[in-house]
Amino acid sequence: MSVQHSKASLHAFYAEALRNGRSTGEKLCAPVPARFLALLASLPADTPRRALDLGYGAGAYTIALAEAGFTVVAVDQAPAEPLLHRLLARKDLAERVTVVESLIEKYAVQEDFGLLVAKDVLHYLSQQDVERLLTGAVRSSRSVNLHYLEIFTAISRTDAHDGQIHIEGEARYTPDTLGRALERIYDGWDVSVRWDDHTEQDTRSGRSYFEATRATVVASRRFPAPVGTAAMSGRETA
Ligand SMILES: C[S@@+](CC[C@H](N)C(=O)[O-])C[C@H]1O[C@@H](n2cnc3c(N)ncnc32)[C@H](O)[C@@H]1O
Repeated sequence: MSVQHSKASLHAFYAEALRNGRSTGEKLCAPVPARFLALLASLPADTPRRALDLGYGAGAYTIALAEAGFTVVAVDQAPAEPLLHRLLARKDLAERVTVVESLIEKYAVQEDFGLLVAKDVLHYLSQQDVERLLTGAVRSSRSVNLHYLEIFTAISRTDAHDGQIHIEGEARYTPDTLGRALERIYDGWDVSVRWDDHTEQDTRSGRSYFEATRATVVASRRFPAPVGTAAMSGRETA
């Protein structure tokens, strides 16, 4: 049996978790991993210090970006207050962060962001919206840019009776369909994809309720971009 949850209930779930400072299965309150900080440290010096964090959640990546000296536009459908409140204690960072309360589907990337981050969020959008958004960001790219994406593919969500749960309108990428989309979107960019098996378990029962293959995508545009050469690294399994 399969059950479909509405987009509205998904959005309300995150809004409530963030308002109450509650971590979810994705560990929203956890600090960013060292490998993301290493990526920031390795960016070419001519990367514009302006970043876009899509689906910022509790703001872990937004804050790490601001700490690394970026001005950040942070977009999420959830109310802005929890992140604004968190930034109150960090006035030095607050002046570098603009919080936008919006659906990502309604946000058009029209600036040349040096860095675009979308972690654990794009799988909630339709494939059409993901492609429109990222293609828009590629078209707006004018200089050395890097996109860092973590996207779930081949998702299996189950309830306590082993019924499959889907979210209305979600992308339902497989590794193959995502790989092909990346080739279309990042024509002429350097793209590397790392694939990891990902499981979330109920802390009390130990039951796995979410299983997926996570794609960690690093797409970089050198300037000037080579014409018509999509360089895909192929699959690396962690
Ligand atoms: C799993 S959390 C990821 C948070 C953060 N990127 C991180 O990794 O710590 C997903 C976030 O995406 C947001 N979100 C989900 N669908 C969205 C949409 N269509 N537009 C804007 N935000 C969305 C949720 O409100 C939530 O904050």
